Amino acid sequence: MNGGPERLSLRRPDDWHLHLRDGPMLQAVVPYTARVFGRAIVMPNLVPPVTTAAAARAYRERILAAVPAGCRFTPLMTCYLTDRTDVEDLAAGFAEATWVAAKLYPAGATTNSAAGVTDVSALDAALARMAEMGMPLLVHGEVTDRSIDVFDREAVFLERVLAPIVRRVPGLKVVVEHATTEEAVRFVEEGPDTVAATITAHHLLLNRNALFEGGLRPHHYCLPVLKRERHRLALRRVATSGSPKFFLGTDSAPHRTGDKECACGCAGVFSAPAALELYAEVFAEENALDRLEAFASLNGPRFYGLPANQDKVTLCRREAVVPSSIPLADGSTVTPFRGGGSVFWSLDRG
Ligand code: NCD
Ligand code: ZN
Repeated sequence: MNGGPERLSLRRPDDWHLHLRDGPMLQAVVPYTARVFGRAIVMPNLVPPVTTAAAARAYRERILAAVPAGCRFTPLMTCYLTDRTDVEDLAAGFAEATWVAAKLYPAGATTNSAAGVTDVSALDAALARMAEMGMPLLVHGEVTDRSIDVFDREAVFLERVLAPIVRRVPGLKVVVEHATTEEAVRFVEEGPDTVAATITAHHLLLNRNALFEGGLRPHHYCLPVLKRERHRLALRRVATSGSPKFFLGTDSAPHRTGDKECACGCAGVFSAPAALELYAEVFAEENALDRLEAFASLNGPRFYGLPANQDKVTLCRREAVVPSSIPLADGSTVTPFRGGGSVFWSLDRG
C-alpha cells in the first residue's frame, strides 16, 4: 500500500459518457450513476435511436422518473447523428438546451449503430453549424472497414476520418470518446484546445490479456476493444497528468447477462456500480489522487462550458464488494464489472 491519504474529498464528479438504455434496464441502472455523479452525458443509441429533439425530451423525462428520491442528477442529452440529420432540429434542440452535444457513430461500428453515419461528408452542414454554436461533436472513433484489424480501427479512424474533420471545421469542439490507444492520446495532445477525450476506468485497469484470462471473458468485451499494455500505460499517463483535455467517461454499457454470456456476446462493460471507486484505484496506484478531481469533476464541465458541481463527495480507503449480479424487473440480470470482486475505495455516505 502506498502512503496516500485515507480520505479524499472532491467536487461531485460527472460522467461524460454513459449508456442508460430504456425500460427495465433504465430503472435498474440509473440509481448507480445518480448516487455519485451530478450529471452524465447520456448516449443516444437506443432502438430506435434518439435522433430528434422531441425524442430526447421524452427520453430525459423517463430518465428523471427513474432517479431515486433524494438524488440530484441531471441527464445531459445527445443527438444521434445519421445521414439524414435535420440541421434545423439539431440547432433548435441545442439552443433550447434539450441536448448538449451530438454523437457520431460510424454505421456498424458498435451496439445499435446501424442507423449511424455512412458518409461523414454528408455531415458538413451539421458540423459547420455545430462549430458556430459551440456544440460538441462526440465521436465513436473506429472505422468499420472489415479489412482493418479490429485492434487498429481507432488509429485508422483518427487518421482517415477525424483529422480531416478537425482540419475542415476549425473551431468545432470534438471529443474522442473512450480513447483506447497511444495514437488517440497523441491525436488529442497535439490537437487544438477544441479536441478532448474521455477515458473509461476499464481501459485504465485492463489490457487485452483480460479478454482471455483462463478462458473467454465476455464481461471484459467492449468496443473499442481492450488494447495492448503500452496503450493502457499511455492512457494512465494522460488521465493522471492534470491535462484539461482528458476527462472521466465510464462508457458504462449494460447488457443483460445472457446477452453477454453467449455464442455472440454484446459489446459493453457495465461499470456504473463501482465507477468512481475504480478510477480512484487507478489514481491511487499512480500516486495521483490529488489529480482525480481535475479528471473527474473539473475538466469535463470546463470543456462543455458548464459550471463545476458545487457540492462534494468523499472517498475513503475501505474495501467493498461489488454486487455479482443486479436484478431487472423483467426477471433477467445484468453483471457489473468486477462483480463479486472488491474495490479498495468506497464512497463515504457521511
Ligand atoms: C456500447 C453500448 O453497448 O451501447 N458498447 C461498448 O462496448 N462500449 C456502445 C459504445 O459506446 O461503443
Ligand atoms: Zn459508449
